[in-house]
Amino acid sequence: MSVSTTIQPPVSPDFAAIKQRQQKIWSSGDYAAVGATLQLMSELLCEAGDLRAGQRVLDVATGSGNAALAAARRFGEVTGIDYVPALLDRARERAQAERLAATFAPGDAEALPYPDASFDVVLSVVGVMFAPNQEQAARELLRVCRPGGTIGLANWTPDGFVGTMLRTVGRYVPPPAGLQSPSRWGDEARLRELFGNDIATLDIIQRGHNFRYRSPEHFVEFFFTHYGPTERAFAAIDAANQAQFTRDLTDIARRFNRAEDGSLVAPSDYLEVVAVKR
Ligand SMILES: C[S@@+](CC[C@H](N)C(=O)[O-])C[C@H]1O[C@@H](n2cnc3c(N)ncnc32)[C@H](O)[C@@H]1O
Repeated sequence: MSVSTTIQPPVSPDFAAIKQRQQKIWSSGDYAAVGATLQLMSELLCEAGDLRAGQRVLDVATGSGNAALAAARRFGEVTGIDYVPALLDRARERAQAERLAATFAPGDAEALPYPDASFDVVLSVVGVMFAPNQEQAARELLRVCRPGGTIGLANWTPDGFVGTMLRTVGRYVPPPAGLQSPSRWGDEARLRELFGNDIATLDIIQRGHNFRYRSPEHFVEFFFTHYGPTERAFAAIDAANQAQFTRDLTDIARRFNRAEDGSLVAPSDYLEVVAVKR
């Protein structure tokens, strides 16, 4: 008797449909309120990349403009791009308030609307890591960066505070089949795979960004209100799961907390990446 096995072809995600859904997620809540607490990561990345005045800088998935504004404070010729128009409006408001010169434009990280080699520096702070087609997103960063230019990234690691939180979100609202986890950008081997021979050097420092909130409970409430991925996941599940989800996130916040005064100081590991394009 012959035994036949059916080999399933690998699932190829529908990137366009996924991106449409993700765009709605990032448009929900009020990401700008979360972004305001992450500004330091962008300032540190501009220093790590040794930005110079006059350089042409692109901030990919700029959100409310953190890295673009950090580069503008260093007198770069700055553009920030994101696919959520309301966040770009917030970035423009911030630039206006500080009288900083920066341009903000709508666009997709996987199809950057710029010619090859248009920028000296291409930055993305916990931004491009969320694009579903990771290979395509990496190709685009490389394409718009001039030879000898710098690509600077900040990427949450898989097992840090945010990485753990994102994994927990995925337990309640599972991601589409075949989709790579965003946290893979927080792994050096994966970065080498994505950039291949197109980079001459890759410098990586592991850092921790401190999430400082009034309490673990305050953090969870803040993220359920403002951070699209948790806000949308919470809204998509039933009451019993909402209660369990709340307990799980509070437990994670407590586990990473190093404060002993009732407040939250939770360091979240991320890779600060500076690559030079060949
Ligand atoms: C965690 S936020 C980071 C925002 C900002 N870089 C910061 O440091 O606060 C992720 C951002 O990526 C944007 N984003 C995700 N996928 C994108 C894509 N395919 N194209 C453009 N923007 C994208 C979202 O709209 C959101 O603003």
